[in-house]
Amino acid sequence: MSLYSRITGTGSYLPPRRLTNADLAAELAVNGVLTSDDWIVERTGIRARHFAAPDVCSSDLGLAAARQALQAANLQAQDIDLIIVATSTPDMVFPSTACILQNKLGAHGSAAFDVQAVCSGFIYALTVADALIKTGAATKALVIGAEVFSRLLDFKDRTTCVLFGDGAGAVVLEASDTPGILASDLHADGKHVGILCVPGHVSGGKTLGDPLLKMDGKAVFKLAVGVLDEAAREVLAKAGKVAADVDWLVPHQANIRIMQSAARKLKLPMEKVIVTVDQHGNTSAASIPLALDGAVRSGTIKPGELVMLEGVGGGFTWGAVLLNL
Ligand code: ACO
Repeated sequence: MSLYSRITGTGSYLPPRRLTNADLAAELAVNGVLTSDDWIVERTGIRARHFAAPDVCSSDLGLAAARQALQAANLQAQDIDLIIVATSTPDMVFPSTACILQNKLGAHGSAAFDVQAVCSGFIYALTVADALIKTGAATKALVIGAEVFSRLLDFKDRTTCVLFGDGAGAVVLEASDTPGILASDLHADGKHVGILCVPGHVSGGKTLGDPLLKMDGKAVFKLAVGVLDEAAREVLAKAGKVAADVDWLVPHQANIRIMQSAARKLKLPMEKVIVTVDQHGNTSAASIPLALDGAVRSGTIKPGELVMLEGVGGGFTWGAVLLNL
């Protein structure tokens, strides 16, 4: 049994179809929905997002990210004994996207399950994988965030459809004698279910309720800024660190203004914040591992540096993970 778990490889994947704000605005205008590059950039920092083709599922995006992460960790699929997929856009009602992905990957026999914590999903999944490794229940885990959020968007609602995109990110987490993950902090408060939800379900062969995303943007903004700061402080305290020790903040990529506010509250300069929201939009559970992989591959985040991951999403859920890369 190992004392610690450590990230030994990262990967990510974006579907090839990229829409700039101007591309999206032109598509929406056909149906009389008006928006502009200026409005989207000013309110959110988003400039482009990727949308998956209709026959592509979360497991396909996650598979591509997982393969990259395995390669980076110098592992084969059959070495993996745990797969956790964080997603709010599963391929099917059941079985889990993790099982579907496991089959595509050829990691037969590993434990595999999904975690549903919306945009905090990757933080939740990483924390669960870390705990399972520390108990000895797993030794080599694939932790994946994968989403086709475009499937949930109401393209007649300009206040939400401009915000989200599709993609996947993955890490390999391995048992280790030296500390990788130092501390985690998870929370939820279900009284906020209504401010961000997809209030539909499948019953009797039909979709009941509304299967498209609903959001009270102002309420989400206010709540997100407060709980991210709370999670950041709690995870630092658990690890015996202070904000000034953090080399890199990798926040959920929802909106540049939320990220700026989170950094400001911690007195971290934006130079220490990994930003991909401009190019990806909000990819929900995929956003943190996508941002992490980009920063690792570009050499921005270096081995040994102290990294804080923090997420917030529907539920409401929120949390943070502090780790040495
Ligand atoms: N293009 C042009 N105009 C728009 C658009 C658009 N896409 N969307 C809304 N508007 C208009 C509104 O109709 C309104 O017009 P009016 O003043 O004539 O009535 C005006 O812009 C202002 O609308 P508000 O809703 O007040 O805009 P606000 O400043 O609150 O910004 C936003 C909206 C960007 C959604 C903001 O509330 C926000 O960022 N909230 C956080 C939401 C978020 O990040 N969610 C992600 C999911 S949750 C998560 O991941 C944590």
